[in-house]
Amino acid sequence: MQRTKIIDALKRTDFGSPITVMGWVRSKRGSKGIFFIALNDGSTIKNIQIVGEEQNFDEAVVKLITTGACIKVNGVLVESPAAGQASEVQAKEIEVLGTCDSTFPMQKKGQSFEFMRQHAHMRLRTNTFSAIMRIRHNMAMAIHTYFHDHGFYYFHTPLITASDCEGAGNMFQVTTKNLYDLKKDEEGKIIYDDDFFGEQTSLTVSGQLEGELGATALGQIYTFGPTFRAENSNTPRHLAEFWMIEPEMAFYDKTDLMDLEEDFIKHCVRWALDNCRDDLEFLNNPRLDPHLIERLEGVLKEDFVRLPYTEGIEILQEAIKNGKKFEFPCNWGDDLASEHERYLVEEHFKRPVIMTDYPKEIKAFYMKMNEDGKTMQGTDVLFPSIGEIIGGSVREESLDKLMAEINRRGMDTTSLEWYLDTRRWGTCPHAGFGLGFERLILFVTGMQNIRDVIPFPRTPGNAKF
Ligand code: 4AD
Ligand code: MG
Repeated sequence: MQRTKIIDALKRTDFGSPITVMGWVRSKRGSKGIFFIALNDGSTIKNIQIVGEEQNFDEAVVKLITTGACIKVNGVLVESPAAGQASEVQAKEIEVLGTCDSTFPMQKKGQSFEFMRQHAHMRLRTNTFSAIMRIRHNMAMAIHTYFHDHGFYYFHTPLITASDCEGAGNMFQVTTKNLYDLKKDEEGKIIYDDDFFGEQTSLTVSGQLEGELGATALGQIYTFGPTFRAENSNTPRHLAEFWMIEPEMAFYDKTDLMDLEEDFIKHCVRWALDNCRDDLEFLNNPRLDPHLIERLEGVLKEDFVRLPYTEGIEILQEAIKNGKKFEFPCNWGDDLASEHERYLVEEHFKRPVIMTDYPKEIKAFYMKMNEDGKTMQGTDVLFPSIGEIIGGSVREESLDKLMAEINRRGMDTTSLEWYLDTRRWGTCPHAGFGLGFERLILFVTGMQNIRDVIPFPRTPGNAKF
């Protein structure tokens, strides 16, 4: 179909030329026999104004031009007398491609995000959600561009797996077994021999273990794909299905890793400022987040704080002594809650923090142990208003040390032998991290709930659409 996209129409200056635009009606108003339509086709947050004289159109057709309707307009591009727009379209013919009656749920302005979540399939037609989705696309491009330009290979790891990378057991099972008639052995355990893969399998919680195989062969790889966690956390920061970016690098130590985390995330924020200006300006408003752009620019200016966990705990203890109240305890050895992370980032340092060297009891088996035998070389990035945005670490490259940790945790290595081969043959120092894509989008858009930065969120009790 021949048409000019609205993003291009708004840039054209060949006034007097014929033009055809198509899109969805955001609003229509009229006065003194003239109607004005704000039309949007998703190519930009900006609408193009369509102007028509009622007497030139069939009354029945004009009535069908309601909020949400899809129309095709043939007309002439003219210079706009109205402020804030260079051009508009003087309509000659209007065809209603799809009518939209008053039951359309996204008709009213200013509806709550909660309401829009219940109509997630239609919220994409609103300004806010189209802006978020364009930014989401741009951030994916930022990520691929960054890694490609830095010599990383995009490496595809499986979604169906027989191993549990994080060892947390929050996995969704994958089976073709008849759940109404499960065969069990004498101890009551389900027999998987006759299942599709001949063993128990799940949806992956992380591509890291396979990513390490890639990095220890190709040098530097990254994954970018869906990840699944059956944790029953109904919070504004958790999804059951989210997208993760996991770079893994051979010959990287802790400092190299932290440098990459910081440079990469700044690149993504800079990309948003450079490529998503109109959408960011739209989101930067009193109803959503009046300080969004300022916060994004702030992140670029400052060096991230690099803070060992033990010092972080000392700062938190000091704050408690001075009257700060937290809901959860934070003694040495505790996993930090989001309130602690946010105190450090938002109140104490007022800039992003890379927290390092966590107690081994709260981190995964694969992390490199420090010489103290108590802490591991984790490098999580904590962000304002988000908390943990990146989880990373140097990996334990010594087979003996890794095996000792696996045994100490009482883990079964049957499904991990292939992973241990990286340490058996030509092991090398290496490191990597995982960035939660939706947490990045939360930060860049200033949205408050992770359900609002993915088109169709999956959370406990919700797999609609
Ligand atoms: O800290 P996590 O669990 O680390 C890993 O999975 C490592 N294997 C990554 C690696 O080193 N290659 O998860 C990494 C990031 C978190 O920092 C967070 O941003 C995001 O993934 N994340 C979630 N995002 C949305 N919903 C959830 N349920 C998430 N769980 C983790
Ligand atoms: Mg983590």
